[in-house]
Amino acid sequence: MNPMLNIGVRAARAAGRVITKHMGRLDSLRIEKKGHNDFASEVDREAEAEIVETLLKAYPDHGVMAEESGQLGNADSEYQWIVDPLDGTMNYLHGYPHFSVSIALYEKGRPYQAVVYDPVRQELFTGGKGEGAYLDGKRVRVSGAAKLSDALVGYTYPYKQGDDLTLPLATLKALTENTSGVRREGSAALDLAYIAAGRLDGAWMHGLKQWDFAAGALLVREAGGLVNDYQGGDSWMQSGNLIAASPKVHHGLLQTYASVQREHSE
Ligand code: IPD
Ligand code: CA
Ligand code: CA
Repeated sequence: MNPMLNIGVRAARAAGRVITKHMGRLDSLRIEKKGHNDFASEVDREAEAEIVETLLKAYPDHGVMAEESGQLGNADSEYQWIVDPLDGTMNYLHGYPHFSVSIALYEKGRPYQAVVYDPVRQELFTGGKGEGAYLDGKRVRVSGAAKLSDALVGYTYPYKQGDDLTLPLATLKALTENTSGVRREGSAALDLAYIAAGRLDGAWMHGLKQWDFAAGALLVREAGGLVNDYQGGDSWMQSGNLIAASPKVHHGLLQTYASVQREHSE
């Protein structure tokens, strides 16, 4: 395994131990409201501190962009780690056992190594640029689903008070009508890892932050999938609005969203 990925894995497992350790005392956690439906707990912060310490101890010259702390370490380094210590905080706080740790390493601004770790199932998804994607060390590929109608797809929309839901709900309706099923599980990083592992055939995702998708998007691409914005371009890295899927399902998702947009611009 790439030595940098190895350190990323060590950091993710350390964060996972923090997360599971506190699962029996969810009622007494200190929770901070960052915005509407947006929370961080002491567990997010403790897990993040564990990750940052592991990464910067091994690589003191690297930079780290972490969800709860912002930019740390050397912001000018060609190596930048992108960290979400707990993706799926809402699930976690409710005791709904579906969340993950997401750690990506960018090299010269490009995704280089990726880890998504599920501390409940103890499943480790890893990948490296040009090296493929792996689940617990075994190579994974996106699903071979040939048609959108056979696909199980994820849908992620972070609702904020006052949001106009017309287009997102029209998209959800179209996905419900045109696929085998839609899942809204609450951990975008894990959705992407599941696409890489062929458990989901694709996903429509809106309003993600870089730490939500940095690791998962590399896993999807390394597993033979596609990640694009809603027009098939690359603006998703800035906007966080993306379609990720196996190639045939990706095409179907782009077409479905285009028809939703057409209907709503008439
Ligand atoms: C959230 C999850 C969720 C997505 C939200 C994210 P958090 O991350 O990934 O699936 O819909 O947009 O903010 O806040 O639990 O780290
Ligand atoms: Ca997140
Ligand atoms: Ca988080």
